[in-house]
Amino acid sequence: MTVSDSIKIATESPDETQRLGRCLAPGLRSGDVIALHGDLGAGKTCFVQGLAHGMEVTGRVSSPTFIIMRRHDPSRGDTSLYHVDAYRLGSGDELWEMGIEDWLYNGVVVIEWAELVAEALPQDHLDVKIEMQDTHREFQFVAHGTRSRQIVEYLQRCRF
Ligand SMILES: Nc1ncnc2c1ncn2[C@@H]1O[C@H](COP(=O)(O)OP(=O)(O)OP(=O)(O)O)[C@@H](O)[C@H]1O
Ligand SMILES: [Mg+2]
Repeated sequence: MTVSDSIKIATESPDETQRLGRCLAPGLRSGDVIALHGDLGAGKTCFVQGLAHGMEVTGRVSSPTFIIMRRHDPSRGDTSLYHVDAYRLGSGDELWEMGIEDWLYNGVVVIEWAELVAEALPQDHLDVKIEMQDTHREFQFVAHGTRSRQIVEYLQRCRF
């Protein structure tokens, strides 16, 4: 793995985690897939709240645990945010049946518990691994292709 394939960033509060999501938002475009990994309460939804803010999409962001996917439409521009919670999905096939391919035409797809549907993810996606430490959360962003590498490079240039 080369240096530009990954970046680690620590956040010390929920506010900082949201700010990180907000920083990332301008670096995203339709077709991007963000795969979130982290234990219960790690901060996945908190991060998506910041992302939604930065993308200027409508609606309150909470874990879509029972409805699986919630779409947030843009208040300006044309990129929606598709927020998925894979916790209750049996397999990645269900994501395809729900239409993930169509969502990618006009949106960014961000998936909590992405490891449960790993086989359904496009090869080029950005993994975000969140670890809870004593004093902070550690976010590791790992690219898996040309496009997600651009996103990591964008983050490397962000002043967080
Ligand atoms: N640095 C931090 N970043 C994010 N959340 C933090 C941080 N420090 C404390 N918290 C708290 O941790 C909780 C994170 O909750 P959140 O719903 O985002 O987790 P989650 O990973 O989505 O969990 P779930 O798997 O249940 O959906 C919040 O209550 C938040 O206040
Ligand atoms: Mg959540």
